Amino acid sequence: MPEFKTSPGTRDILAPHSARWRAFQDVFANTVEAAGYTYIIPPMFEDLDVFLRLGEATEVVTKEMYDFHDKGGRHVALRPEQTASVCRAFVEHRPTTPWKVWYAGPNFRYEKPQQGRYRQFDQVGVEALGADDPLLDAEVIALASKFYSDLGLRKVHLSVNTLGDAGDRERYSQQLLAYFMANEKDLTAESRSTLARNPLRVLDSKREPDQIVIAGAPAIRDSISTTAAQHFDAVLQALDALNIAYELNNRLVRGLDYYRRTTFEFTSTALEAAHTAIGGGGRYDGLVEALGGPATPGIGFALGLDRTLLACDAENVFNSPETSVDVFVVDTVGGLQAHEICHLLRNNGVSADRAYDSRSMKAQMKSADRSGAKIALIIGSEEVESSTIMLRPMGSGEQYSIAREKCVGEIRKALENK
Ligand code: HAM
Repeated sequence: MPEFKTSPGTRDILAPHSARWRAFQDVFANTVEAAGYTYIIPPMFEDLDVFLRLGEATEVVTKEMYDFHDKGGRHVALRPEQTASVCRAFVEHRPTTPWKVWYAGPNFRYEKPQQGRYRQFDQVGVEALGADDPLLDAEVIALASKFYSDLGLRKVHLSVNTLGDAGDRERYSQQLLAYFMANEKDLTAESRSTLARNPLRVLDSKREPDQIVIAGAPAIRDSISTTAAQHFDAVLQALDALNIAYELNNRLVRGLDYYRRTTFEFTSTALEAAHTAIGGGGRYDGLVEALGGPATPGIGFALGLDRTLLACDAENVFNSPETSVDVFVVDTVGGLQAHEICHLLRNNGVSADRAYDSRSMKAQMKSADRSGAKIALIIGSEEVESSTIMLRPMGSGEQYSIAREKCVGEIRKALENK
């Protein structure tokens, strides 16, 4: 028989980690719903064309897309992120603006798998469409910061930058191209090949030999329009007003081509090596138009769930929650009693589990222990005869008999005392 394993870059998330993932999404939902964001569930695949709007010079598009022809001959792709889908949904449904939504779920990129980088990875994120108010930029950044601190993370660093307006970005790209071409011999081979596709992305290189050239590169802030510069100043002031610490990083261009004006990235200083970026985002005024809609500004972020949890591990915060049941039913008579009692308890809001296959009392008590239940209920022949149940608070060394017909109330009382 072949030995089946998960495909590279994918994982099974089992308990107790799976409970942590759910809790992560719950904390995020609470944080952003408290700021008026509503939940959107975009599809996991779309027409490839939707994602081509991420920019045809973007590696996410050129190298990493999971695209295929479906049985109807449509060229579709698994979503590599959700911003493009949210903008497509905006164009399709034309909601009133500002439209503020949040999402959670898996994305797919054919990257080289390693710690913190997967081919199927989860993100949580928000998008706000229809307002270019700099206060919205600051609100969005503040929400991400609040979420990290709600998780208990302390070692999170925020970098911000502006890429100016569409024309600014293009002009800057040309300036960079000229500068890097003039210094091409000092760049690594990887950066030389990136240069041909997308000069901005050379700024992202973490390779040591590139750093001297990058340090001398022109900064975008010197070539942006006055309106873009004023917008950015207002964003910074609004962040200052909320006491949100940030570093200005004029090398921060981000990996997707749709960004205009404000961009930002969160890194964890508790994580080592390459994958310290735990989230990022920015403005993408122009993306809705590129998808066939009216000119509509937009801003948002996505936070990598997998990486953020690695940061939580490194800071020893937001550990997996307890997921045990309240009650474990041990049945030594093998009748229908345990079956009925479990059903009764579950129907009355008391979580309950049990053993199966008439195992020995000792084996069942072991299972009760392992289950983490607070109470074991024991049903033996004496209990069946006297219509009672033996209630044993786990770990107490005590036990007492309760009447079967009053068991729900008695068990609730015992749980309150635990
Ligand atoms: P992104 O920077 O491509 O932005 O991804 C955001 C975050 O997702 C990253 O900071 C990282 O934590 C996580 N991430 C990305 N790729 C992987 C991977 N292969 N494995 C594990 N984690 C990963 C976006 O996706 C934009 N849609 C963000 C955005 C929303 N901009 C505006 N609105």
